[in-house]
This record gives sequence, structure tokens and C-alpha cells, in this order.
Amino acid sequence: MVQPIKKIALLTGGGDCPGLNAVIRAITRAAILNYGIEVIGYRFGYKGLYHNNFMPLTMETVTGILHRGGTILYSSNKDNLFDYLVDDGHGGKVKKDVSDVAVENLKKDGVDVLVILGGDGTLTSARDFSRKGVNVIGVPKTMDNDLASTDVTYGFISAMSVGTEFIDRLQTTAKSHHRVICCELMGRDAGWITLYAGLAGNAGVCLIPEIPFTIENIAKAIKKRDEMGLPYTVVAVAEGAKYADGTKVIGKIVEDSPDPVRYSGLAAKVADDLEKVIPNHEVRSVNPGHIIRGGDITAYDRILSIRYGVAAVELINEGKFGNVVTINGDKMGYTSLEEVIGAAKIGQQKHVDPNGELVKAAKAIGISFGDE
Ligand code: F6P
Repeated sequence: MVQPIKKIALLTGGGDCPGLNAVIRAITRAAILNYGIEVIGYRFGYKGLYHNNFMPLTMETVTGILHRGGTILYSSNKDNLFDYLVDDGHGGKVKKDVSDVAVENLKKDGVDVLVILGGDGTLTSARDFSRKGVNVIGVPKTMDNDLASTDVTYGFISAMSVGTEFIDRLQTTAKSHHRVICCELMGRDAGWITLYAGLAGNAGVCLIPEIPFTIENIAKAIKKRDEMGLPYTVVAVAEGAKYADGTKVIGKIVEDSPDPVRYSGLAAKVADDLEKVIPNHEVRSVNPGHIIRGGDITAYDRILSIRYGVAAVELINEGKFGNVVTINGDKMGYTSLEEVIGAAKIGQQKHVDPNGELVKAAKAIGISFGDE
């Protein structure tokens, strides 16, 4: 150990993601069992750090959470302590940099290392705390699987497995009524969840952000399926997919969130537009929304989360602060927070390659992307 680390603190920021609890458990157990480190967790992300609201993380408090979605530490996607809404003293609110309060709290609590589980927004603050001299380790979190520096993030396999089950269930009812059913899946601007769930669930059409589509092309694919004796189609629709003319559907703007746009409603629009051009089919839509984010996590994600958590503790042991845990191929590794955030800021997320092997395989077995 480079310097004696006696106490670490964890926090989870941004939207929750399947696997967070499993990572919290792995870090806690590995830190206690291997290095005798005391572990605490701040509640509600950075807000808990600001208000000094924390709980002890012990072998006992982290038991029974390996398989559970969500986060026992709770989360918030709004509290950037470098630009935080506080009372202005005159009954109003004003934005202020309160990060020094957080640094003081860490000192007061005797915390040697802050382990931050989060996506782009949360890790941007992690980088900024690192720049202020705090020992920080980041553990990337996104079920969208769009982080460029790592091959796969925990939560992705769980989310796409639930998405697959949705499509499976829609297949039998679509077939019984010769209907077309559009199923919307989360994933923001990356098509990973929809492509994987669409392939695994045998969707006839997959609409993903990386491949703009037209209603005419989808109708053509449905007609082709009809002629081949498949007079029903499940259309897997990524929430962030776009029409060839650039049209996207935004469901909500969440002020104060690092990425305020929330997609929602594309499957309903595609269903409406499709019904006008394929009068021989009834077209319906469903939007499971956050359901793919909740519930128990897959065995694969439990193991991946354990690996991310143990690797984080090893980085602490080696004193490699200012880094984010990664997995490349089958090897755990790390990349600097500066690099990860720099890439995210210039939009270098990991996207589906429209000409890649996976899309080609899907097309080879007759799945349409609405692009031809
Ligand atoms: O990034 C995870 C994610 O679930 C996206 O797939 C989705 O677009 C977004 O978060 C939804 O955010 P919120 O929970 O704030 O509605």
C-alpha cells in the first residue's frame, strides 16, 4: 500500500443501474477482508456528501444485495456540488460552488479515498474533486453500454435481458392477431440494448440511433414478412432512434440534470405513422420505460460487478487515484478520469457500428433496420 488507507467512502450518482448494489458489496467486502479498511457510503450521491449524510458499509449492511437492482445508497442525478442550488439568504435560490464543504466533510470524517459509482455527469464531478486533490476512484455505471473506454458496463446485460423478455412476450400476442407491435427500449443515444434485445428476441425490425429509418422502409420490411408467411412483426425501437429527416421524440426536459433530454414516445409515433401506410395490420405500441432498469440482475452482471468492485479496491491499494476502472477483452484495467471525461465531452461515446459484424449478422437473418 502506497499510503496507509484506513477509511474509504462510496457514493452512487446519476440514474440507478442494475449492478450498483453488487459493486457496493464487492468493494465493501474486498476492502474489509483484504485490507481491514473501514467503509462508509454517502446517501443520495453528492447531496449526501454535502450534508454529511452517510451510513456504515459493513459485511452485515451489504448482505443480501448482490442480486438486487437499484442502490442501497440511493442516488440523485441533479446535485453537482460545483454548481449547486443553495438558499441566497433572501428567500430565493442561487447556484454556488460548494465543493469545499464536501472536501471539509471528507477530512472531518477521516475519509482517505472517495469511490464514485456513476456515469458521465457524476464522473465529471469526480474528475473535478480529483483536481482539487481528493483521492478519487471512479467505477463507471451505465446500462446503455456507451462508455468508450471499457468494453462492457454492468447493468447492460440485465437491461437487455429484460428487453428480450418483453419482445419474446410480444411475439406470441402479435402472432395471434397478425399485429405489428412497436416496443420502445431505453439506451439514450446508443442502440446497444435495442440491437441485442432485438436480435435475441427475434424482432422483425430494429430501429437504433446509429441507423436513421423511414416509415416506407419499415412498411416494406413488414410486407416482405407477410409474403414469407410471417404476417406479424415486433418492431424493437430504441428511444433515441431517429427518422431519416432527423426527427426524434423527446419526452421530457429535466432541468438541472447534466444531460437534461429524456427520450420517450418514439414507439407510439412510429406505430401511428405505420398504421397509415399498412392498413392491413393493426399497429400497437408499448413502452416499458424504467422497467428494464429494475428488478434482479443477471448472473453475468453479478460477476462483472464483483470484478469491477474488486478491481477498484486494488487500485486503492496501489494508490492509483484519479482513475476509472475498465475491462478490455477479459482484463480489468483503468483509464484516467481526465481521459474518460474528455472523450465523453466531445461526444466520443461507444456506438453501434452501422456497418459492423453485428448489424450485418442481423441483416443476414432478415432483420430490417428501416434504412433500405
Ligand atoms: O442512462 C440510463 C437511462 O436509463 C437511459 O437509458 C435513459 O434514457 C435515461 O437513463 C432515463 O433517465 P431518467 O431515469 O432520468 O428518466
